Amino acid sequence: MSDKTYRVIQWMTGDVGQAGIRHFAACPTFDLVGVLVHSKDKVGKDAGEIAGIEPIGVIATDDVGAVVATDADCVFYTPIIMDVATVCRLLRSGKNVVTTAGFFHPTEDFRAAGDQIRAACTEGGASFHGGGIHPGYAGDVLPLTLARVMSRIDTIHLYEVVEVLKDAPLDHIDWMGFGKDKDAFLSEPTILGLGLPYFAQSMHMLADGLGVAIDEITAAEVDVAVAVEDIAHDEGAIARGTVAAQRHQWTAWVDGRPLIVFHAIYVTGGPDVLEPAWDWGATRYRIVIDGDPPTELTMQGLRQPDGTMSHPGYPWTAMGAINAIPEVCDAPAGWLTHFDLGLVKPRGLVRK
Ligand SMILES: NC(=O)c1ccc[n+]([C@@H]2O[C@H](COP(=O)([O-])OP(=O)(O)OC[C@H]3O[C@@H](n4cnc5c(N)ncnc54)[C@H](OP(=O)(O)O)[C@@H]3O)[C@@H](O)[C@H]2O)c1
Repeated sequence: MSDKTYRVIQWMTGDVGQAGIRHFAACPTFDLVGVLVHSKDKVGKDAGEIAGIEPIGVIATDDVGAVVATDADCVFYTPIIMDVATVCRLLRSGKNVVTTAGFFHPTEDFRAAGDQIRAACTEGGASFHGGGIHPGYAGDVLPLTLARVMSRIDTIHLYEVVEVLKDAPLDHIDWMGFGKDKDAFLSEPTILGLGLPYFAQSMHMLADGLGVAIDEITAAEVDVAVAVEDIAHDEGAIARGTVAAQRHQWTAWVDGRPLIVFHAIYVTGGPDVLEPAWDWGATRYRIVIDGDPPTELTMQGLRQPDGTMSHPGYPWTAMGAINAIPEVCDAPAGWLTHFDLGLVKPRGLVRK
């Protein structure tokens, strides 16, 4: 095994970026050499302080030019929204880019951006790779891994269940439309619905992996459940009668049959506070494959000795990408998909 160290830059320090800093600080495989922030109040702070750990001697800056000029093997790129021009600038500077911010499988939706990224990889002699938990793992890498032990596949269902008040940042309440009037919510575009091109990458990756072509992806169903009473949270309450849970369903059709069905289910309570009395249970990813043999897999946090259990969504998101950094840095230049990397061999996870 290689004990090589990779010099990394953390690009933005939101929930995913902070998980990145904590890992880079703890894991000897990585040497954190720069941190870029957008928020003025984080400029000049130690990266460890931003990420909720001890100071680590790396000071955050908002000077993009200085960070682009920093010598590093890889940028862990986790801004709120990917800027393709910036990613290309980093690649042209010779730095590999690994990101959770959207791209990971070439589809028609991202053809133009993908072409720019490939050209920048060639120019800079660098590589690009996208990953995460979903999309980028739970709905593509994981079902394909299960498919490896099956003899026939009829339909693949992926259920993403999130207990928003327990396992997501509070800003999700507003930006996902909880507390809205039901009819208004159902008549407007939803944040999750707007994300379909990103999740469609997972469906295309699954189909590509199974050697079939998707005819069409339909976004047929959005359901909501309303609160039967005020549901309190740290900054107020979701009012009785307003949207308190939402379910989105997208289907990828192959040869006239539904081959892949993604269910995104975000709830702020259980059957006691919802109408209809939805009971989706705890935050988790659940893959159900109808076929031979019928197979199911659930991925969730581990209950701790004190009885608590939380959803490690952000650490999973960060690590899904970070664990590929060594192989991305060591690979020939280009856009490296999950298929290009094959079975990733994480480095530095087993340590004293
Ligand atoms: N594939 C997956 O599984 C998955 C899962 C979760 C998230 N993601 C993606 O990963 C990325 C990071 O997620 P996150 O939850 O960490 O994001 P986030 O917390 O919402 O934001 C990331 C950071 O972007 C910077 N930022 C905020 N507003 C900005 C603005 N107006 N202009 C420029 N920068 C701004 C801030 O950096 P500073 O705080 O450093 O100033 C912020 O902390 C996002 O693109 C998200 O969609 C992917």
